Amino acid sequence: MLPKKIESVLNEQIEKEGYAAHLYLSMASWAETKGYAGISNWFYAQHKEEVEHMLKIIKYVNERGGHAIVPKIDQPPKKFDGVKQVFEASLEHEQMVTSSINNIVGICLKEQDFTTHNWIQWFVDEQLEEESSVQGILDKLNLIGDGNLYMFDRDIMGMRVEEGAE
Ligand code: FEO
Repeated sequence: MLPKKIESVLNEQIEKEGYAAHLYLSMASWAETKGYAGISNWFYAQHKEEVEHMLKIIKYVNERGGHAIVPKIDQPPKKFDGVKQVFEASLEHEQMVTSSINNIVGICLKEQDFTTHNWIQWFVDEQLEEESSVQGILDKLNLIGDGNLYMFDRDIMGMRVEEGAE
């Protein structure tokens, strides 16, 4: 049986993953309206990943005898100041999610719920990967400076194809 405290923090995490999915969907839509096909494709793929994260937690909570609650999700920002800003906002969001996952790891240890502690390691690894992927994109953008965003957009389209995200 899932300890109540763990059930509660996992339900909070479901809401956070849902918000991340919404945020990336909004970023994808914004990029699409600006004509950035590669960037929008990248964020649509991110959206799908976040929905999967949310589902993974929902399934786990229910499997352990808890009740996963489908959350109300706030509306994310509609507009972004530019390509670099959108990726900076994405990195900032991932850092917030990482700290939330780390907090759950700590609570698992405190509650001696070693099953959830073991299960959540997948998210610990995933966060490392997500942060480093966005950081890699920001590094590229810094190299480009005010240069060719058309090439960058094509480049990022290739990245998702290679990763098999679409
Ligand atoms: Fe599911 Fe990107 O955090």
